[in-house]
Amino acid sequence: MAVKLMVCKDKGEVARKAADIIAEQIKAKADSVIGLATGSTPEGTYAELAKKNKVGGISFKKVRTFNLDEYLGIDCEHDQSYRYFMNDRLFNHVDIRMWNTHVLNGMAADPGLECLAFEQKILAEGGVDVWLLGIGNNGHIAFNEPGSAPNSRTRIVKLTESTIKANSDGRFFKNPLEVPHHALSAGIGTICEARRIILLATGANKAAAIKAAVEGPMTMDCPASLLQNHADVTFILDEDAVGKLSRK
Ligand code: PGA
Repeated sequence: MAVKLMVCKDKGEVARKAADIIAEQIKAKADSVIGLATGSTPEGTYAELAKKNKVGGISFKKVRTFNLDEYLGIDCEHDQSYRYFMNDRLFNHVDIRMWNTHVLNGMAADPGLECLAFEQKILAEGGVDVWLLGIGNNGHIAFNEPGSAPNSRTRIVKLTESTIKANSDGRFFKNPLEVPHHALSAGIGTICEARRIILLATGANKAAAIKAAVEGPMTMDCPASLLQNHADVTFILDEDAVGKLSRK
């Protein structure tokens, strides 16, 4: 199955296209299960969704959400926790019921059990309809770093130096020493069970990872390339992230 590509002129258009897909999903099924991601890339999409909610275009009242990952050992009140990010960028701005939002708890007494419970909750909610993803410069999806297995499940993972560096460039953490070295992350197997996947990438720094993911071999060295097997996966890219893809 080939990855479908949607090429946009800039990151604003990427955000609008992604928000439109999620909005259509929610209009078609009010109690949709939506998978979400953190990072700079989806911020515009969340702003667009909040706008649509405000003008009454869509309601999140019955929507359930699952987030990809969370830092291990960081409290949900910490301003770099992914729970804080999601509340701040999306949940506090739409009519979602907080109890329908699921972000792994980085302070769980038993992190392994927390991961298992997350998987069970996704199953109990009927599986994910659409999962929104970003991609790391090293090809990671969620915190599935190079070397992650295609059938990996939600688990404790170790972050690579390149991810620690990318997340301490001032956009998020100010200093690499502040970045936790471990996280809880949905696995590639977990993500690939979503009925539909949309991956967003903007900027030239993502072009090499996008090329490897779309046109390279399916390999654990580039976790995003493992999405090539999925039946319904669309990459929404700006011109810079498209880079030197031969197929556009
Ligand atoms: P970014 O992160 O959106 O902040 O570039 C993406 C990722 O690391 O998955």
